[in-house]
Amino acid sequence: MRVVIKEDKQMVAEWAAQYVAYKINHFRPNAKKPFVLGLPTGSTPLGMYAELIKLNNDGKVSFEHVVTFNMDEYIGLEPTHPQSYHYFMFENFFNHIDIQRKNIHILDGMTKDYAKECRNYELAIKEAGGIHLFIGGVGEDGHIAFNEPFSSLESRTRVKTLTESTIKANSRFFDGDLSKVPTMALTVGIGTIMDAEEVLILATGANKAQALKHGIEEGISHVWTISALQRHPHGIVLCDKAATSELSRETVSYFLDIEKNNF
Ligand code: GLP
Repeated sequence: MRVVIKEDKQMVAEWAAQYVAYKINHFRPNAKKPFVLGLPTGSTPLGMYAELIKLNNDGKVSFEHVVTFNMDEYIGLEPTHPQSYHYFMFENFFNHIDIQRKNIHILDGMTKDYAKECRNYELAIKEAGGIHLFIGGVGEDGHIAFNEPFSSLESRTRVKTLTESTIKANSRFFDGDLSKVPTMALTVGIGTIMDAEEVLILATGANKAQALKHGIEEGISHVWTISALQRHPHGIVLCDKAATSELSRETVSYFLDIEKNNF
């Protein structure tokens, strides 16, 4: 696992955007050979999306032949609901770049048949040839996408009931009103994420420090689902200094040293 530590969240955003652009450009995607990107929501990736929009508008990267799969979506929110992940993605990213609408995939939280929706999502990823780069955030309790503690590390796309801690954390987007936060979501599984060629997890702020400690320094465990990344051949945690505050000094200086000349 690589751990890339940057000074602050703006530098995390810039590094992430440069990395995504580099990966897309290096791949030289075309209509027959699109680059397949897994994408997260949440406050953490907002800076990266803003930087990617700039790079796109400046002609440094194109999303014309990029196919995207979002990680998750709340059950019961219309795509037009300002807190739905559909709305988030169009508002903060897709509306501002040259992506083709047909290349965007987001789970349908309004479906009547969850099992079918999840099955089809897995199939669509397979048909696209698999995900080249899956980007994720992490919850305070170490969850990636909506794979809450005790999710199977082999899990696939499915329905998840959200934990009280996630509902509480996400209530800040729902006027602080816990009763407005959906209690269930559709989410890709840990197995789905781990199938990607490369996984990049973004973490900023001291509230993510416990998750990084368990994910990086402790054993692989379904209690902290981020720890599954330890078994991925190309896993990267990209974080700011604040998020490393629970890591040992040795771990931090090891990664600062080994990554100093790397992209
Ligand atoms: C939600 C999302 C996760 C995200 C997490 C952290 O639970 N389903 O994908 O990583 O929130 O969000 P934030 O980046 O706002 O801390």
